[in-house]
Amino acid sequence: MSSEHFKAVEPLVAVAAGSEADVFAAVDQIGFADAAACLFTEWADRCAPLSLPEELALHVRLDWRDESRDHGFVFGPAGMTATPGVPAAAAARVGISLVHLVRLLFGPAHLRESARWTHRMLPENPELPGRDAPRLTPDNDPRPPIGRATQALLGVRQAPALEDLAVRFGSDKWGSAHWYTPHYARHFGPWRDEPVRLLEIGIGGFGDSGYEGGSLHMWQHYFPRGLVFGVDITEKKVTGSRIRTFRGDQNDPEFLARLAAEHGPFDIVIDDGSHRNDHVLTSFDALFPHVRDGGLYVIEDLQSSYWTRFGGTPDGTGATTVSKLKTLIDGLHHQEHRLGSTAVERNVTELHFYHNIAFIRKEVNDECGPAWLRRFGIDPR
Ligand SMILES: C[S@@+](CC[C@H](N)C(=O)[O-])C[C@H]1O[C@@H](n2cnc3c(N)ncnc32)[C@H](O)[C@@H]1O
Repeated sequence: MSSEHFKAVEPLVAVAAGSEADVFAAVDQIGFADAAACLFTEWADRCAPLSLPEELALHVRLDWRDESRDHGFVFGPAGMTATPGVPAAAAARVGISLVHLVRLLFGPAHLRESARWTHRMLPENPELPGRDAPRLTPDNDPRPPIGRATQALLGVRQAPALEDLAVRFGSDKWGSAHWYTPHYARHFGPWRDEPVRLLEIGIGGFGDSGYEGGSLHMWQHYFPRGLVFGVDITEKKVTGSRIRTFRGDQNDPEFLARLAAEHGPFDIVIDDGSHRNDHVLTSFDALFPHVRDGGLYVIEDLQSSYWTRFGGTPDGTGATTVSKLKTLIDGLHHQEHRLGSTAVERNVTELHFYHNIAFIRKEVNDECGPAWLRRFGIDPR
């Protein structure tokens, strides 16, 4: 998405957890037209995938002070298309105020659930059916498709499971090559409602597989308040209302430092790029300093530490990712050993290892045992 769009998204996300006055102030700053465009883009992006055998249009009217904006969401055999303006022959109209739409899309869960709207079947005053009108049956009842389309639109307030998102967007983090998503959900779950900044190295998608950016889309939907940044060495065309992508080499520390200085610090960095050991270590050194205190650095596909084609060694020793992570285990105890410690080691408080994947928590590690322990020579300083 363009940097202009991000300029509107960030303040709207920030005020979505605040008061009505906060939302008013932010929209006055952004301007109603740009805020509405940003919200409709987000809504279309987040709308659940739904195809209907026959075209059905929902008309949305967004109100702000004495202005309004109309938007059409048209569901048909090929899915949904969204366009500005009043759609022709709408089957229903949803009315929502801008404050409520900001909360519905960008609020934390309790505010998403508190969002209110009006829903009217159209025409609003239909002729009453005559005595000899056909009885409604599942085949001729117009209401179920309207209900399904409305739910596709308003269901954005409900949090989807990470596995469903991985399958929907074609990320290999679940269900095929890897089984990482339960680990991700365990560690990322507490941040679901936070305005996280997430950077992933490796956008993925090969040729015209249609799965380009699978995990970026997955994260965008998993974190409704998050901003998602992706890096890849090849040109990728990924669009998403809260996704920005950059072309660059994860083995180029200057490129990574520039990117992080402009768009960081990040709450989460995920390395799912080349999986070459030297690249993984370069990226870690360059990006770990740009992880926010309390944030997580995740490295996927650790098995490449044992694969020589990826710069690994058969026993995983040497300049491999696994070796580096083992030194971080030593570093956790830097107050109690005489091995010395690096700046990174003094800023790691948790290491979680699973099959092929590790999570590293960045936090100041200044925990120290009581002075009397020195008596036992445990801390000889
Ligand atoms: C496994 S795919 C990423 C899959 C994606 N993260 C997902 O879960 O859907 C690996 C990606 O890393 C990219 N890549 C390979 N070498 C790279 C490098 N040196 N720097 C940045 N990206 C690289 C590839 O182009 C490929 O798109």
